Amino acid sequence: MKKFSHSHQILSYFILAVIVSADPSLGIRFPNPISQASGNPPDQFLRTAVFSLGSFWRAESVFGCLDGVVRTTVGYGGGSKSNPEYRSLGDHAESVQIEYDPRVINFRQLLEIFWSSHDSRQVFGQGPDVGNQYRSIIFVNGTEESRLAAVSKEREQTKSRSSIVTTQVQQLGTFYPAEPEHQKFELKRNPFLLQLIGNLAEEELEKSSLAAKLNGYAAELCPPRIQTRIDGKVNEIIRKGWPILQDV
Ligand SMILES: *[C@@H]1O[C@H](CO)[C@@H](O)[C@H](O)[C@H]1NC(C)=O
Repeated sequence: MKKFSHSHQILSYFILAVIVSADPSLGIRFPNPISQASGNPPDQFLRTAVFSLGSFWRAESVFGCLDGVVRTTVGYGGGSKSNPEYRSLGDHAESVQIEYDPRVINFRQLLEIFWSSHDSRQVFGQGPDVGNQYRSIIFVNGTEESRLAAVSKEREQTKSRSSIVTTQVQQLGTFYPAEPEHQKFELKRNPFLLQLIGNLAEEELEKSSLAAKLNGYAAELCPPRIQTRIDGKVNEIIRKGWPILQDV
């Protein structure tokens, strides 16, 4: 009987904790139970890449998972319209901007992920998404990236001659970040994971490496090795109890 009321009390705390933490306006945060990836170099050592490969929700998930990717932002690029918006993006393509640590991952490796994560031969769309905004683009900055992009596109084309690789290679121009509701879209659909990282405020969520990783994890688009690694950490937290109740 005593045991019952004790666990009942714990359950009440648990529910309270869930309710309290679910209301970001109260400003109560859990301590970060999955340690924030440290060891990221200062921003001036990061490099930036931008790709278009269909829906930017999906593109952000694919790249955000990778070790060495420090930050991801979805947005619009490749067009001429100033200040595009989701409902009127003009001639831009949905894009993802990737800030990465070149000591851990390089442009050539990002290109491999780019090619393996979409169908570069699909015309006027990607998967179920139809339209010019879903076209395939590699944005390049400088001659070395131009060369790497051209070589990788040619290699992709030689895999099969029966259809044309539609991917464009363009000089990197202005990248317009998309509206907040499109950033870390897959993660935002998963309240449990959001809570695990402490219900970060929007600006923090957009900059967080951990959020970028979990966004990919939520979409199940991480490479299997990374998906398994994150599974392990999440399951450990579930097994040890809700973070706020580590010690009762
Ligand atoms: C292009 O690369 C150079 C370094 O090689 C960097 O300073 C510059 O900011 C990059 N441009 C863009 C638009 O990212």
